[in-house]
Amino acid sequence: MKKTLPWWLRPWVRVTAGLIVLILLGGAVGGIYLTQTVPQQPIQFPHNFHVGAGIPCLYCHPGAQWGPVAGLPSTQKCWGCHQQVAKTKTSPELQKLVAYVEKGEGIPWVPVFIQPEFVHFNHRPHVAAGVACETCHGDMKKVTVAQPIPRQNMGWCLSCHAKQAPEKWTRLSDCSLCHY
Ligand code: HEC
Ligand code: HEC
Ligand code: HEC
Ligand code: HEC
Ligand code: HEC
Repeated sequence: MKKTLPWWLRPWVRVTAGLIVLILLGGAVGGIYLTQTVPQQPIQFPHNFHVGAGIPCLYCHPGAQWGPVAGLPSTQKCWGCHQQVAKTKTSPELQKLVAYVEKGEGIPWVPVFIQPEFVHFNHRPHVAAGVACETCHGDMKKVTVAQPIPRQNMGWCLSCHAKQAPEKWTRLSDCSLCHY
């Protein structure tokens, strides 16, 4: 006669329990990780002025419409505007920009929004589906440099995916969509 294992020792029960523990831990770790304070940036870049002046997000972060990475503007892109904005001489922050331009160097911005290595996020499908930048990054008209937003973990991704059309849920909740 075939021996049956007690239910708590069956492989699928153990695998599922293991995953649940990992997901809970992951949530906690992700939460702590992303609650970090605003990093010190090399230039106190004012999003509020630029977004308020009507410059589109995609002018400075164009990659978001084509692929995974939104990207940051080059020193040359800043200078394209700022060599014409007269305030350069009186603003200490713009003096720092001038110094990078003269050295021909990129500005070493510190990353703010980062998912762990094993998560594959992609901007393109979100932008294509019409999800606004501020849904995930907050109102940039109210901040200078970007501010981290706590608890953007797996539960956050999945709770929005769960609000999409029901027939998409199988695809949008598949582990291999975000982990591969
Ligand atoms: C929509 C995207 C998405 C899908 C689908 C998804 N995950 Fe995740 N997962 C994440 C993100 C983002 C994190 C990192 C943040 C966190 O820890 O919650 C994560 C973290 C994890 C972790 C934590 C790892 C650690 O070391 O902290 C595990 C385990 C995990 N996922 C397993 C799964 C399994 C199993 C499935 C399928 C049932 C799945 N994920 C589906 C986005 C996703
Ligand atoms: C499309 C044009 C444009 C681009 C590109 C641009 N800026 Fe600006 N920037 C402006 C305008 C307009 C203002 C507001 C000027 C004013 O005070 O009236 C401004 C203001 C600023 C200020 C505030 C100056 C002060 O002290 O009053 C800083 C600092 C600055 N920009 C840095 C940058 C950096 C760094 C980059 C590149 C990452 C950049 N800008 C790219 C147009 C631009
Ligand atoms: C569905 C949520 C979501 C939307 C919508 C979204 N982002 Fe993001 N963004 C993220 C996540 C998650 C990360 C971290 C990605 C990583 O670490 O792999 C990120 C990272 C970034 C970064 C830094 C890394 C990079 O990709 O260059 C920039 C800049 C950025 N986003 C700009 C934008 C802009 C601009 C828009 C609108 C056009 C936008 N995002 C829309 C979730 C979103
Ligand atoms: C004039 C150029 C410019 C415009 C316009 C602009 N940004 Fe940025 N953005 C930057 C620069 C420079 C940084 C790096 C400094 C920082 O982290 O704030 C940055 C950083 C970010 C980051 C964090 C990147 C990271 O490494 O995690 C996000 C998210 C972001 N921007 C979203 C937006 C959104 C959303 C808009 C439109 C509402 C926008 N930006 C408009 C220049 C711009
Ligand atoms: C505010 C809502 C929202 C949040 C938050 C969100 N997503 Fe999405 N996601 C969407 C929408 C809408 C789509 C496009 C669905 C479709 O195909 O119509 C999508 C699609 C995707 C796709 C591509 C699906 C495909 O078939 O190619 C991936 C990968 C993805 N999301 C990963 C993530 C990850 C990882 C996170 C968290 C870090 C996240 N998403 C957070 C709304 C969201």
